[in-house]
Amino acid sequence: MAFQIKSYEEYKEVYARSVAEPEAFWDDIAANFYWRKKWNKTLQWNFKQPDVKWFINGKLNITENCIDRHLALLGDQPAIIWEPNSKDEPHKVITYNELHLQVTRFAQVLRNNGIQKGDRICIYMGMIPELAVAMLACARIGAIHSVIFGGFSANSIADRLQDAQAAHIITCDGAYRGAKDIPLKNIIDDALVSCPFVKKVIVYQRTHTPVSMIKGRDEWWHDELQKVDDETAGTTPAQEMDAEDPLFILYTSGSTGKPKGVVHSSAGYMVYATYSFVNVFQYQPGEIHFCTADIGWITGHSYIVYGVLCAGGTSLMYEGIPTFPDAGRLWDIVEKHKVNILYTAPTAIRSLMAYGTPPIAGKDLSSLRVLGTVGEPINEEAWHWYDEHIGKKRCPIVDTWFQTENGGILISNMAGVTPAKPSYATLPLPGIQPALMDEQGNEITGNSVSGNLCIKFPWPSILRTTYGDHERCRLNYFATYHNMYFTGDGCYRDENGFYRITGRVDDVLNVSGHRIGTAEVENAINMQEGVLESAVVGYHHDIKGQGIYAYVILEKEPEDAPLMQACILQTVNRIIGPIARPDKIQFVKGLPKTRSGKIMRRILRKIAEGDMANIGDTSTLLDPAVVEDIKTGKI
Ligand code: PRX
Repeated sequence: MAFQIKSYEEYKEVYARSVAEPEAFWDDIAANFYWRKKWNKTLQWNFKQPDVKWFINGKLNITENCIDRHLALLGDQPAIIWEPNSKDEPHKVITYNELHLQVTRFAQVLRNNGIQKGDRICIYMGMIPELAVAMLACARIGAIHSVIFGGFSANSIADRLQDAQAAHIITCDGAYRGAKDIPLKNIIDDALVSCPFVKKVIVYQRTHTPVSMIKGRDEWWHDELQKVDDETAGTTPAQEMDAEDPLFILYTSGSTGKPKGVVHSSAGYMVYATYSFVNVFQYQPGEIHFCTADIGWITGHSYIVYGVLCAGGTSLMYEGIPTFPDAGRLWDIVEKHKVNILYTAPTAIRSLMAYGTPPIAGKDLSSLRVLGTVGEPINEEAWHWYDEHIGKKRCPIVDTWFQTENGGILISNMAGVTPAKPSYATLPLPGIQPALMDEQGNEITGNSVSGNLCIKFPWPSILRTTYGDHERCRLNYFATYHNMYFTGDGCYRDENGFYRITGRVDDVLNVSGHRIGTAEVENAINMQEGVLESAVVGYHHDIKGQGIYAYVILEKEPEDAPLMQACILQTVNRIIGPIARPDKIQFVKGLPKTRSGKIMRRILRKIAEGDMANIGDTSTLLDPAVVEDIKTGKI
């Protein structure tokens, strides 16, 4: 695409311009998209409220950019290549022409079911092409999708449905993930017990698991498609959207107990997701891009669906997990489909590393040109393993840092164009102005310094609000530092100005690249009968990056401690989902608290990591003796 940066020199020039004249810079980038009507003001912003608007009064529909505008030239090119969970099932190739047909037909299904612009639709499906079709069909008619990852429980889904007042759901009977069949529709049915406002559930049949279908509420996807007149569907225009109309909501964890519904705009999100995709991966026409993330996370939204399709790329989508049926599966997929770009999480790399090189032996990985990582800091050992054994030292590795709230990659090297440095996300993309801040709110300038990472200036895909609670958005991201977006991450800037993300500085854990709030896990544990109080911290985990360590005070000594631990795990499973299950549970008599009642997590983290020598000063604690008790009982 016209805005692809080709050299380090060019990056420096473009970056300088993006800071000196951001509006003119983004005007030029946005001109590469298809607009029904051009914007008449590029940017309006203040971080105080916050109020950020991009491409004001522009009109568009993102699906015309993802699909329609490619049809003339790329109609027969694969848009999505889908690799199923089972090696025995044939893969599918969906061309742009076919995607257009499927999306317009399913958009008609949504219209037939009374769904309109602005309605919120929850999507809870496995990794099948119909998930992308469902998202695009929502976008086609202007409905706001909220995709929920399959690892969340019925209770978490109900919370999200209620928060967004989503009256429509798209799901599957079940999903295949490795050796497991996940009964998605049953989980939805459990969620719906507390969501009587839900009017329709459209169910795609994937696993043929028996499911309950309630008359008048639940409809089969295939039956609904039968009612669509292809002619009408194909010729019904996409809904015209204002640049600032919300495109989707994506829930993510923060330091409070309740996940936030991050709201992304239509135009700004589209422009930035595409711009970052093309530049970071240096995507070349015809290449096959394989992002192993689940679409339930922002990485999947931007780099499996929207960014890739807007760029006219080919996105490979895989239903299963990297270790099924064996630890060579990703390499089989790379060989089978001649994948050019592989984008995965450090956790996946570390877990595959543990199997050594035999699963790679004899696999032809020569099609690979670029490797990427995302979601958590990558340790040098994993970086070098990826470089040596997968990239064979000829593929640049991009370490891409961003967050759900950012919409697209903010800090990363650009493959083969800007320098890489193991464990560093390196340099900001054009338009991104990072700042490191100290605890007193002062910017730390110069190099070889650490601080809290903020961004000084808006970029097009910054979150617009948190659904239904704008004040929460302000407090979470814009109130800590004056006139800055605060990321919640700690960061080091080296002697050359390269950035290295060091991890969260708030009470948010990053387990296998999944964001989990400690307060959320504590709330869930505290719901278990017999639990008085709990405190959750993260500790170093060789594969998952961080593990979850829970200190739990019980009302009375348990008769059967292992049973009680298992019951607590069940409760966390039910309340949040399997992704938030603590790895370790230690029963304690008390927690280290200050006189004002604040739990000193720093001490708990040290104990969880076994770093007893560096616990530090405990004299300010209400009862310093509890620390000794906890240390003695450490598991
Ligand atoms: O701590 C950072 C970490 O993941 C957090 C964002 O999580 P989430 O919103 O779920 O999005 C994950 C996928 C973009 C960040 O605050 N993180 C993300 N990417 C990196 C990272 N930490 C280090 N290096 C990265 N490349």
